[in-house]
Amino acid sequence: MKREMKYEGKAKRVYATDDSDKYIVEFKDDATAFDGKKKGTIHDKGILNNRISAHFFEMLEKHGIPTHFEKLLNDREMLVKAVEIIPVEVIVRNIAAGSLAKRLGLEEGTPMKRPVLEFCYKSDELGDPMINHYHIYALGLASEEEMKVIEDIALKVNSILVEYLKPRNIELVDFKLEFGRYKGRVILADEISPDTCRFWDADTREKLDKDRFRRDLGNVEEAYREVLKRLTGGN
Ligand code: C5P
Repeated sequence: MKREMKYEGKAKRVYATDDSDKYIVEFKDDATAFDGKKKGTIHDKGILNNRISAHFFEMLEKHGIPTHFEKLLNDREMLVKAVEIIPVEVIVRNIAAGSLAKRLGLEEGTPMKRPVLEFCYKSDELGDPMINHYHIYALGLASEEEMKVIEDIALKVNSILVEYLKPRNIELVDFKLEFGRYKGRVILADEISPDTCRFWDADTREKLDKDRFRRDLGNVEEAYREVLKRLTGGN
């Protein structure tokens, strides 16, 4: 049974349950961009991201990736393992876009010669500033052992997702992962959705992700729906 709310983020709420080892994650329709400066809602986003995340987590588990996902509960909620979130956001990039394209003066769409890993300190007040391993260890955000596991899982998730999305005609440009501690292990947590990934149609390079909201491109809900359709084949 659902108990008190533990945490409310920009796109999700996390609740305690009767089982101290499990949380319930509720996906909201609220959307923010540019460190919360742009606010809005995307109709049915919570429902779509709940399904899309569940689909990715189940697929990754089949490939041997440990995740917090337990099961879908209803349209907007999933049951997850009660992890302690590690406050390091991990960004994986295959193609230059967004902040990387801007920071390094690369044309959006430039392929990377190999995947790029970036780390950000998870802090709404600070706007998730980019950090490196020195910061992570100096601030005690994660141990060296944990970072080895995190980087290994992040790169494996990237390879699995790229291959999985190819036949679905989706290019995986970049994405953000979060990890949590659970019973002495580090496992994948948070969500994997068009809110946290850049997905491009492989033929037209049409954006099928939150950039449609960030850049006022329109048809945001339709793009999220299209991603779910390509993942599940319309089921
Ligand atoms: O904005 P930027 O180009 O750094 O984002 C890289 C990737 O990480 C994008 O897919 C974006 O959706 C995701 N991201 C996120 N949450 C953040 C920052 C970035 O999901 N706080």
